[in-house]
Amino acid sequence: MANGRAYVVLAAFAAGIVLGPGAALAALAASADNGKVAFVKHGCWQCHGFAGQGSVATSAGRVLYDTKLPFDVFKAYVRDPSGAMPPYHVEILSDSDLADIYAYLESLPQPKPASEIPLLKQ
Ligand code: HEC
Repeated sequence: MANGRAYVVLAAFAAGIVLGPGAALAALAASADNGKVAFVKHGCWQCHGFAGQGSVATSAGRVLYDTKLPFDVFKAYVRDPSGAMPPYHVEILSDSDLADIYAYLESLPQPKPASEIPLLKQ
């Protein structure tokens, strides 16, 4: 029955529309993907670079990818920085977004060691 089959396809399509965004949002919770979005949205990239690589000029050379800071220390610094970095209070940057940012930074690939970059051996 071609008609019955069309209904099944239509129903599946409708369910995709209804469930899609909700399911996608749930999947984003506490994820590196959401952290990437939050890292951009909250402007961390402006000083720390899109890959958390840091800059001598804007983040005093602090590298954020593969940070050695435990999450609690990372979070405490972002909430109440001691240097030139602006503070991010919980009202503007939620704990879950901050956890996602941390997950994103931890997910970034490591750079090659200098010894594996031929140009640097010359
Ligand atoms: C206006 C520039 C600026 C922005 C925007 C910024 N930072 Fe920073 N950040 C700094 C600077 C500069 C430092 C070096 C210490 C200092 O002066 O506060 C730093 C240091 C840090 C440190 C400490 C790193 C370490 O190893 O000591 C963390 C963690 C950090 N930033 C996270 C973030 C996150 C997450 C965001 C976005 C929510 C962010 N920063 C946005 C400028 C910035």
